[in-house]
Amino acid sequence: MPIKIAILKETAEYERRVAMVPAVIARFAKLGATITMQSGAGLQADFADADYAGVTQVDDPRALVADADVVLAVQAPQAEVVAAMKPGAILASFVYADKAPDLLVGLRDGRISAFAMETVPRISRAQSLDALSSQAALAGYYAPLLGAVELPRILPMMTTAVGSLRAAHVLVMGLGVAGLQALATAHRLGAVTEGYDVRPETREQAQSVGAKFVDTGIDARGEGGYARELTADEQARVREVLTQHIQQADLIITTANVPGRRAPRLIDQAQIAGMKPGSVIVDLAADSGGNCEGTVPGQTARVGRVSILAPFNVPSLLAQQASELYAKNLLNLLELIVKDGALSLDLEDAVVSGTLLTHAGEIRNEKAKAIFEAKTAKESRP
Ligand code: NAI
Repeated sequence: MPIKIAILKETAEYERRVAMVPAVIARFAKLGATITMQSGAGLQADFADADYAGVTQVDDPRALVADADVVLAVQAPQAEVVAAMKPGAILASFVYADKAPDLLVGLRDGRISAFAMETVPRISRAQSLDALSSQAALAGYYAPLLGAVELPRILPMMTTAVGSLRAAHVLVMGLGVAGLQALATAHRLGAVTEGYDVRPETREQAQSVGAKFVDTGIDARGEGGYARELTADEQARVREVLTQHIQQADLIITTANVPGRRAPRLIDQAQIAGMKPGSVIVDLAADSGGNCEGTVPGQTARVGRVSILAPFNVPSLLAQQASELYAKNLLNLLELIVKDGALSLDLEDAVVSGTLLTHAGEIRNEKAKAIFEAKTAKESRP
């Protein structure tokens, strides 16, 4: 029997992506799978049902998942859809269990093997499955373009008959996957670029895409390649150095995140008040609360004479290619768990076990388990 894969249509606000694109269907089929999709699932990403050759379309999401061995989605499905899945089936999507404890219980009690794509380990072998990176790369590319159209000036130097225009200064704060792509785009558009991050190893990475590195003298390396939170003294020192660079910039892109927490505040009101009139900030951390005082997540705010753009779900604005990369991340996950045309989960494999949130009626991810136990303990207190 071929593996039955079902692709859901997304229902979340601001979500235009889809978990399957026509170009990768053949590669899923090679695994020995048949694919069924919810009708209209690709429309928001500009893929019509007819573009998915050989794929059966189903209207009702519960009927779609009822006999599926594998359910693929971008965002976690609705509770009633999870409830309609058969026990032992696989789900692969972003889940963010800390924000959806009830869904976590549904996945556990439904005996779903749920792969939470935001928890793919950050190791070399897992890079082709790393959906956070594939999506962040696109968001980072796009941020300078969003900022450029909001600016009352151009980015490159230009020589005209009435004199020269100097190149704009672009500062990117937070040099993970998104930040480095943002620097690269801004450089290609002709801006003078600077990058800043609390992780010192980003200095060379910034330089490799043509940017200067803003050095504050603080090393904030944390566990697992991520940043740790800074102490109050460290924050004051950093602030002093950064203020100068913030106030020289025409366009600032912020991308800083600390996993599992609200996004760190990188720019405050006083710093914004000293910025050049007409300058623009693109806050890519809107989904986790934003990096700037004055950011209104999901909107463009005007603070004095500075605009702060804080769009939600930026990868979704590039839905076609964001979906393509995400579908390939899912394909690479399936290649890891399908052996000779049948599903086979190797729980000893670090990538499988690191990404598996629930399996066989248990919550396997330690962080999710702790959140769930804390919540249960709180609810059971008299
Ligand atoms: P992220 O989205 O979690 O954070 C973005 C950036 O914000 C990070 O570079 C972080 O250092 C920075 N940041 C946090 N607090 C800050 C603060 N107060 N001020 C300034 N910057 C701050 O990062 P992303 O893009 O998810 O990458 C996280 C790490 O994982 C990086 O070290 C990256 O190189 C690594 N990575 C490794 C991969 C692999 O080996 N397979 C794949 C992707 C990322």
